[in-house]
Amino acid sequence: MTATSARPVGAHRTLDNAAGLGQSASPRLVTELPGPKGRALIELSERYEPRSMSGQVPMVWKRGERVWLEDVDGNVFLDFTSGVLVVNAGHSHPRLVAAMRAQADQVVNTYDFVNEWRPRLAQRLVEITPPSLDKAVVLTTGAETTEAAIKLARKFTGRYEIISFHGAFHGRTYGAMSIGGKRSTPSTRGFGPFLPGVVFAPFPYCYRCPFGQTPDNCRLHGTEYLDWLVETETEDNVAAVIVETYQGAAGSIMAPDGWFPKLEAWCRKRDILLIIDEVQASFGRTGKLFGFEHYGITPNILCLGKGISSTLPVSAIVAESRIFDVLPAGSMGSTHGGNAMGARVAIENIDVIVEERLSENASAVGEAMLARLREIEARSECVGEVRGLGLVFGIEIVRSKASREPDAELTKRIVDEAYKRGLLLISPIGFYGNVLRLAPPLVVTEQEALTGVDLLAEAVEAATA
Ligand SMILES: Cc1ncc(COP(=O)(O)O)c(C=O)c1O
Repeated sequence: MTATSARPVGAHRTLDNAAGLGQSASPRLVTELPGPKGRALIELSERYEPRSMSGQVPMVWKRGERVWLEDVDGNVFLDFTSGVLVVNAGHSHPRLVAAMRAQADQVVNTYDFVNEWRPRLAQRLVEITPPSLDKAVVLTTGAETTEAAIKLARKFTGRYEIISFHGAFHGRTYGAMSIGGKRSTPSTRGFGPFLPGVVFAPFPYCYRCPFGQTPDNCRLHGTEYLDWLVETETEDNVAAVIVETYQGAAGSIMAPDGWFPKLEAWCRKRDILLIIDEVQASFGRTGKLFGFEHYGITPNILCLGKGISSTLPVSAIVAESRIFDVLPAGSMGSTHGGNAMGARVAIENIDVIVEERLSENASAVGEAMLARLREIEARSECVGEVRGLGLVFGIEIVRSKASREPDAELTKRIVDEAYKRGLLLISPIGFYGNVLRLAPPLVVTEQEALTGVDLLAEAVEAATA
């Protein structure tokens, strides 16, 4: 892997026309929420759009700079969403805006003709990933990468079964839903039957272990259960295991130490491909450029998205060329995949993340945030567990620490109370809809991050009062 560093962490930038939004010190609320323009647009949305989105607070985005967002009524919010963990380089980063503007003047869509930027992006992705991953295909969405990864694994191995994990989220298209491990949620229920040949194993969700175990005495923690699963639920025709580096939608769940290396060794022993879905965990989010670096493991196929561009829909699979080489012409690619503007801005974004040392910033600011969040955990009966890695956090909201009973309604109230204070959080996530997810852009300073955590503490108090 190659990395360079030149610019200092958290360097301040101002857009020419942004009147210092990026230098805000705290949220600024100037109307009731939502304001009149916001209300009108929410009504328009309710009239003309289906209710298929995730039920966010009624904040109508107008513009953003670094970690600050302004709504259509001029209210300023501190962003703890990064969109949905997309905007790693911060909103409207001038270098990314310039790259998009420059390319808009040249050419945007080139279908799968080679353009000036797509092969350069593939090269850059190969350079920053482990040496065995030596080719990349550029696509547009995360779901497209997980779909493509399954196709690739099946074609390469000639086997068809896929092992995925309870709670997994890999996207909303059919193949991606089929390897998703939360079948009873409203977003999945009623859409079956799904792709056959997928079997699920428990992910080590130690706070809510379905077997009542703890990491130190749990045999699932190893790979015995996977052996059992292969014996009982497969034809021993497994092509691949697909796994997130931390489970995102299931509640920002991080596996205990040692679990991933065992999983990797198990795959190697059985000659099963390891697909790591880092659509969410990559490009500095966890405090390293890639989340799998925390565990010293290497995938055979790596799925990337979201933070790859911090802006436009860009995604990619990076894999071993011996695997890619089985693909015949026309079998993988898409209309907008690798378009010149997306590829160009992704290259610029990767340079920004490396040069501004945003992984390091995520790690340092993440530690400070975690410490402050743990103070809230210690004094709040409704905070069951705080989990964090770099700048992504999951906070379990419960009826009581002893019962660990999920409290989805309270979680929603906390998100609403945070909004009223100018802190933007994404709608609750998790198996039971009771997990708060915090994920500020990686350019956040420690002071901004702690301002947000203090606002969250107020929101928790107000919601429980
Ligand atoms: C781990 C993971 N994989 C895949 C996806 C799907 O990405 P997209 O919404 O871009 O299709 C997501 C989106 O949240 C994700 O978190």
